[in-house]
Amino acid sequence: MQDASESLSAQLLAWYDRHARVMPWRVSPQDRAAGLRPDPYRVWLSEVMLQQTTVAAVKDYFHRFTARWPTVAALAAAADADVMGEWAGLGYYARARNLLKCARAVVALHGGRFPDSREALLTLPGIGPYTASAIAAIAFDEPATVVDGNVERVMARMFLVETPLPAAKPELTMLAARLTPATRPGDYAQAVMDLGATICTPRSPACGICPWVEACLARAAGVQADLPRKSPKPEKPTRRGTLWLGHREGAVLLERRPDKGLLGGMLGIPGDGWDGQGGEAPAMADWQEVGEVRHTFTHFHLILRVLTARIDSPPTRGVLISRQDFRPADLPTVMRKAWDLARHEVH
Ligand code: ADE
Repeated sequence: MQDASESLSAQLLAWYDRHARVMPWRVSPQDRAAGLRPDPYRVWLSEVMLQQTTVAAVKDYFHRFTARWPTVAALAAAADADVMGEWAGLGYYARARNLLKCARAVVALHGGRFPDSREALLTLPGIGPYTASAIAAIAFDEPATVVDGNVERVMARMFLVETPLPAAKPELTMLAARLTPATRPGDYAQAVMDLGATICTPRSPACGICPWVEACLARAAGVQADLPRKSPKPEKPTRRGTLWLGHREGAVLLERRPDKGLLGGMLGIPGDGWDGQGGEAPAMADWQEVGEVRHTFTHFHLILRVLTARIDSPPTRGVLISRQDFRPADLPTVMRKAWDLARHEVH
């Protein structure tokens, strides 16, 4: 078994040496072999951004973040609202709040240097088992096993695991751990992810050019496109609510959402919470409906009516922000949709 897994990892690393994808946070296998090491700050930032998000969606955010905050110390010193604004549109906003907490902990507790072991990384805010393994492997070449959705798919096919996800996770993790080599574990972790993203793809895997084709049990059985199996997900409920976009002389009524809960810490248009409890408009005014927006979150679909009005009485919540001081890009996506729908009413 040991020899078989060693030759498999060697085959994959040889493939990676020729086909590694170029990414802004990545050190190529050639540069790594020449002694260059990845910046743990950039590895951490990319891994947090990539959770639940695609490489294509992350690239521009990564460039903007690293241009504005080139080091973990710079990020730790940033204002919360600036970081939340740069994160707007990436979703899962708890990640951005934890990002700041983590940067500040690295500065306060570790002198501005990321700890170099999986175990120590796990003690930091927002760093769970996946992220700790990814940073330990990629930035510090610790032979930690990195298991994301790509890796699960590759393992399910290589070892013909018929158990559906998510029940199969522990087994897939164990199989991935058995293959993880002691040599070049950082390159290896990225190689399995690249294999899953470019060859061992969900629908029609390119087995003809796969470095692991001869060992792949699913391929031998002809069932590679059917794996991994997945347990049916429960249907998402639909929730409804209201947003009130108030304005006065070109200024827009906005509020900073509470840190806890959905879209926590983000700038927002005042709403009724869409929890069925009802809620009040943020000011007495002649509210007019301009339409509705739809957005899907992890656990529910949301349909929001959007109302606008000129506000002449003092608002009960929120702050009037002038158009010059308001960047629509700072809004999370659902609020941005509402703004795009209603902006023509604001004057
Ligand atoms: N997805 C998450 N992390 C990744 C990485 N380091 N390389 C490629 N895809 C990834």
